[in-house]
Amino acid sequence: MNDLGKPVPSSPTRRDFLSRLLKFWSLVTVIPIGTAIIRYVTPVQRDVDVRESLRVASVQDIERNTAKIVRFNKEPVIIVHTRTGQFKAFSARCTHLGCIVQFKSEGTPHFICNCHGSQFDINGINIAGPAPRPLSPFKAKVDKSSIVVSRI
Ligand code: FES
Repeated sequence: MNDLGKPVPSSPTRRDFLSRLLKFWSLVTVIPIGTAIIRYVTPVQRDVDVRESLRVASVQDIERNTAKIVRFNKEPVIIVHTRTGQFKAFSARCTHLGCIVQFKSEGTPHFICNCHGSQFDINGINIAGPAPRPLSPFKAKVDKSSIVVSRI
């Protein structure tokens, strides 16, 4: 107490300093971790324009017995122009672990996955390797010399 009866402020102790330092450290640590957890558990709102069908290529872009990988919304889709003139479309993601498959036109046309050796026939059916399922089919049709892909 001073002469006027008011308490004299005491100098901060080591304990006070450490306590304040711990509170500051907690805030600096908890806020980013809490933000990360909230962002992880809440769904992300994306302004992605999802289309039901898309013109992905022109017929001239894909010669017979060749294939082309295009984007359908955000998914890679492989379009094959068969020897008989049909267009077929499948998800280009291997059903094993998701690598991108390639089209092989030599011999019997088929798809291969170079990651672990899966093979799929021209209809997308898994015929060799660890892939557990056929490639996901898409619908491909020709409209005014364009190839239109849509989900089945
Ligand atoms: S990801 Fe294609 S075989 Fe493993």
